[in-house]
Amino acid sequence: MKVTTAVAALAAGAVAAPSGDAPTPVKKVAARASCASAVTLDASTNVFKKYKLHANTYYRDEVNKAVEAISDSSLKASAAKVADVGSFLWIDTIANLAKMEPAIADTPCEDILGLVVYDLPGRDCAAKASNGELKYNELSKYKSSYIDAFVKTIKAHPNTAFALIIEPDSLPNLVTNADLQTCKDSKSAYEDGVAYALKSLNLPNVVMYIDAGHGGWLGWDANLKPGAQELAKVYKAAGSPKQVRGFSTNIAGWNAWDLSPGEFSKASDAKYNSCQNEKTYISKFSAELKSAGMPNYAIMDTGRNAVTGLRKEWGDWCNVNGAGFGVRPTADTGDSQTDAFVWGKPGGESDGTSDSSATRYDSFCGKDDAYKPAPEAGTWNQAYFEMLVKNAKPAF
Ligand code: GLC
Repeated sequence: MKVTTAVAALAAGAVAAPSGDAPTPVKKVAARASCASAVTLDASTNVFKKYKLHANTYYRDEVNKAVEAISDSSLKASAAKVADVGSFLWIDTIANLAKMEPAIADTPCEDILGLVVYDLPGRDCAAKASNGELKYNELSKYKSSYIDAFVKTIKAHPNTAFALIIEPDSLPNLVTNADLQTCKDSKSAYEDGVAYALKSLNLPNVVMYIDAGHGGWLGWDANLKPGAQELAKVYKAAGSPKQVRGFSTNIAGWNAWDLSPGEFSKASDAKYNSCQNEKTYISKFSAELKSAGMPNYAIMDTGRNAVTGLRKEWGDWCNVNGAGFGVRPTADTGDSQTDAFVWGKPGGESDGTSDSSATRYDSFCGKDDAYKPAPEAGTWNQAYFEMLVKNAKPAF
């Protein structure tokens, strides 16, 4: 249970050591107070202007452990600062719903806890690295054991603010990978599942962003409209929930915000994509969403996009080699359609294994531009984390 008064804040500060021995200051971490009353988020406004994306305990612990393993003192000092950066916590299995309570208990009133809803049946239908625990025909389990439990935990914490990213890659896969048998199999479970998630999580202390891939995916001229229509269709099937604010882009991605000309603008097919950076993609996709009848504000992942020119092809998504931590979470995007830059993918966690004998091995993780060796998706990769710190822009 969280304390609901300012009492916890008073407990902060150094406690005097017992007399006699040499004074050993006992470092007490300030327990910051959650809100004293129920939080209401107005999804017609940018809530990131009011709340700071929380530097959650889970990522903080991962980073702190990583810092201990670094011997170079200047790298160590830089890496330690990453622990204070706000990021989204991925709830990627039913078992990992247990990550919610400790993260909530640590979230003060001025912060918003970012969570990724990510456990659809037949997850990651066009790739292998993040194939989920649920089969495409296990929609009822998704609803009852995952979403309902997620909702229950949020309802138990009305005094905490939550920002949710809804099922990265899922609806975009239905738009562009509809010919794959795995995506065909998953289609109805994705649409029903996302609609159920949106409807069930439509709570006053929650704001939701439905994932829309990135500019190199739904940004192709031929995909913009169908992409927006797919998101809007599911949003409407959910009953147009009030707490949906719009869409997320570049989650776990590598695209630049406003690089011009864009990274892939010299490619032979560039003429078919007028969204060569995420800023343009957000602007065009949000216009399509508006005509399709869905709220259209965006958040963009800038967690690992500091270095451009690394990918051989736009679609290369796995552990891109040479990457660096990007712009820190902020609501100052300079763009009225973009609520915030966020850290969506926790930098240091792998995108997929490079072990070609593994069941979830995806050939993208074996490409020339992918970092190797890399562990299973979601697992910590120390060397990759250190590279992200070294190449960070702005530097830590
Ligand atoms: C990947 C993994 C998932 C992990 C997430 C964040 O998509 O499949 O398990 O939680 O990345 O690192």
